[in-house]
Amino acid sequence: MKLKALLALAAGLALAGVAYAAEGDVKHPEPQKWSWEGAFGKFDRQQLQRGYQVYKEVCAACHAMHLVSFRNLSQPGGPEFSEAQMKAIAASFQVPAIDDKGEVIQRAGIPADRFPSPFPNETAARAANNNAYPVDLSVIVKARHDGANYIYALLTGYADTPSEFQLLPGLNYNPYFPGKQIAMPAPLVSDGQVTWPEGNPPATKEQMARDVVAFLAWTAEPKLEERKLMGVQVMIFLLGLSVLLYFAYKRLWRDVDH
Ligand code: HEC
Repeated sequence: MKLKALLALAAGLALAGVAYAAEGDVKHPEPQKWSWEGAFGKFDRQQLQRGYQVYKEVCAACHAMHLVSFRNLSQPGGPEFSEAQMKAIAASFQVPAIDDKGEVIQRAGIPADRFPSPFPNETAARAANNNAYPVDLSVIVKARHDGANYIYALLTGYADTPSEFQLLPGLNYNPYFPGKQIAMPAPLVSDGQVTWPEGNPPATKEQMARDVVAFLAWTAEPKLEERKLMGVQVMIFLLGLSVLLYFAYKRLWRDVDH
């Protein structure tokens, strides 16, 4: 009985090893420096605003963000667009709604709406994308291992197909995607694809990729700054408490031999 269990375990481990080896030939993303890392990490508002623009002008043609409402764009800890800017952004999207007669219509977005999908349903989305589904991007940075570095590498990692590689029709070579071929065509193809307001860095492919990743890191964790601030406050409180306890201890035990 025991032997059987051991054999099963060994077989399981061997299989896992094979699966791991198959995954193993995918390229690992280079670690990047991100402003929100570390105990005092914060998002860079300008970067989030630029990243939003990349999402809107490039990615929103295929990807929805059903967990993010337009009103979130003007809340503290995010891109912090003004109320008026946020309302204008909401109105620039068409969202599905139901009219008085029960018909499905499209209307301009309002702050309470979520970022809509450009496709009416999954079947239509797949039909337009070589049968692959453009996933919802709301929490993609958390949904992938090493999310920020991975998505940056994926967006900037499209390359010419090596001659020995068998690329399936309709797919694109990308060494960072499991299987090295992805249905998403390279979305960021030329410098200056988006035009940011004055005072921002040039819109190189790398800069657009960094900024849209920052934006997606915020949508995946909109309360990140609050969480980190709370951590620092708790540490300061605990430090103060330790000092008080130390002096209380000194005072209480001052006449006792110990
Ligand atoms: C023309 C449509 C299209 C555009 C534009 C587009 N994508 Fe995609 N994206 C897809 C499709 C289709 C997939 C699914 C790919 C697959 O499964 O092979 C995908 C997958 C992804 C994934 C998931 C990869 C994974 O590990 O599963 C991420 C992340 C992503 N896209 C980010 C972006 C970002 C960021 C932008 C904008 C800069 C963008 N996409 C623009 C079609 C698009």
